[in-house]
Amino acid sequence: MSGKIWKTRDPEETRRVGEEIARALSPGRVVGLFGDLGSGKTVLAQGICRGLGVEVPVTSPSFVLVQEYQGTVRVYHMDLYRVEDFRELEEIGYEEYFYGDGVCIVEWPERAGPLWPEDALWVRLRRLGIWEREIRI
Ligand SMILES: Nc1ncnc2c1ncn2[C@@H]1O[C@H](COP(=O)(O)OP(=O)(O)O)[C@@H](O)[C@H]1O
Ligand SMILES: [Mg+2]
Repeated sequence: MSGKIWKTRDPEETRRVGEEIARALSPGRVVGLFGDLGSGKTVLAQGICRGLGVEVPVTSPSFVLVQEYQGTVRVYHMDLYRVEDFRELEEIGYEEYFYGDGVCIVEWPERAGPLWPEDALWVRLRRLGIWEREIRI
């Protein structure tokens, strides 16, 4: 899956890319979603969650840093946008999310600094137009 590029033309198409990515994920995997505000990270996370069997609505976890879901595996959805210092992640027990048995989807992974796990999957999102997005693994 590494090296793959998709172009999507609406949010639902981005969610379907997320479902495709979900099929390549095994328990314990960490996925970093890189991209500017509005590039579609949360929309892609919704698709990944759907692909992992999460049936409840997935919303942005900005204010709580992490939202937990149960699908076919445990799913953690993190949004680190508001993290100013990676030590905040030590306070919330990041090890469970990065090194536990669940799949961990992380928006703004760059905020994790040195705590970011080496073997994470990297996904980059780019806004090409109002409805167009590029997604690269
Ligand atoms: N092709 C597309 N894929 C994903 N989102 C899209 C697309 N086209 C338009 N959008 C819109 O872009 C916004 C993406 O928001 P969001 O996923 O919250 O971004 P981020 O989490 O990266 O800040 C949403 O309002 C969504 O409706
Ligand atoms: Mg978001």
